[in-house]
Amino acid sequence: MKTHDQEMLERRVNSEVRISHFLAEQVANAATYFGYPEVPENHDLAILGVSSIAKLHLNNAGDPWIHGNAKMHTKNFEVEVLDKVADLYKIKDNYWGYITSGGTEGNLYGLYMSREYFSRRDLPCVYTYSRSSHYSIPKNGHLLGIESLVIDEQASGEMNYDHFRSELTKIKASGSDFPGLIVNLNIGTTMKGAIDNLERINSILDELAIDRSKVLIHADAALNGLIYPFTEGALDLFALGVTSLSVSGHKFLGAIHPCGIVLAKKSIHSESFTDQWVSYVGSHDTTISGSRNGFLALNLWYLLDVKGIEGYKEEALRCIENAKYLKEKLEAIGYPDVGLFPNQTIVTFKKPEQQIVEKYQLATDGDLAHVVVMQHITKFRIDKFIDDLAATI
Ligand SMILES: Cc1ncc(COP(=O)(O)O)c(C=O)c1O
Repeated sequence: MKTHDQEMLERRVNSEVRISHFLAEQVANAATYFGYPEVPENHDLAILGVSSIAKLHLNNAGDPWIHGNAKMHTKNFEVEVLDKVADLYKIKDNYWGYITSGGTEGNLYGLYMSREYFSRRDLPCVYTYSRSSHYSIPKNGHLLGIESLVIDEQASGEMNYDHFRSELTKIKASGSDFPGLIVNLNIGTTMKGAIDNLERINSILDELAIDRSKVLIHADAALNGLIYPFTEGALDLFALGVTSLSVSGHKFLGAIHPCGIVLAKKSIHSESFTDQWVSYVGSHDTTISGSRNGFLALNLWYLLDVKGIEGYKEEALRCIENAKYLKEKLEAIGYPDVGLFPNQTIVTFKKPEQQIVEKYQLATDGDLAHVVVMQHITKFRIDKFIDDLAATI
């Protein structure tokens, strides 16, 4: 009969063996992680894992700028992260924001704030988004009970502007007062990386003489938040009418745990939310979740601090160049249906055989698959992928 000590030792050994196998399996999976917009393994962040920080309970409950009663939080780091991204979007002196649990929560926040803004003005509201938007976009509209208008997409994945115009024209023609309009602007769709053209949207709003005080625009930049500003022809989104923006922290930013950033124009935010004080935490309840993971803020702070905005710019330009390289390689082997939205990092092509889909963990949509050319997808790995793919045709 085993003693208690023997049993405990065996249990520990078995647990550690299982974890070690899991680690080895995941390191191998990371090498062929091609289909989704994440950095699968981030060595830059090893310091957070091995340091004693990982054992601490760090809770950023409430507003990032109001520290509250408990001292175990990372709000100073959080605000530094927000400031850096707000600076990149030229709104550092006029914004509010927080670190979310991911791009989905940022999208929910943008919509929630917009709904509150209009409801404080006693205006009903309508939410428009293109059919190629991420699934969080319709879900959030449903959660918040907002009337939605789904706009057709073009083959590129961009919004169909004629359809947008005709839907707004119908509302105008209905004779009732024009409602508050919340426009979801895709700054990179999930499947094709398509970007909705804000200038075209603005000119349609002007053409129809829609009162701009009744329009709020939320930008979904889940993958592209730290790519878009560095691309050729990038617009100054907030100057052109965007009122909130959501970015995923675990995509291009490279955090290893799901997280995100939401930014909003300060004036819109403060008109939308008043009287949110909660004395129990000693802060304003201005975020969607109450308790928030302070460790995630450290992930983002560390990455931004080490690389700097310049480092992200270099990475963004390299990924765009590598995406072009992948497109050229696919075309060179005569692979069908190859597409790449200008200045983007997502290359689409005909869905390959199942063995390739599985090995490279490719995301697929009908007959289409894509590779999201993230920082770890080097030319060397692209060549290997092309060799594997060429062998199947
Ligand atoms: C365009 C777009 N928006 C939102 C999201 C949701 O982001 P998250 O997974 O961080 O919630 C994604 C995720 O892939 C996306 O591609």
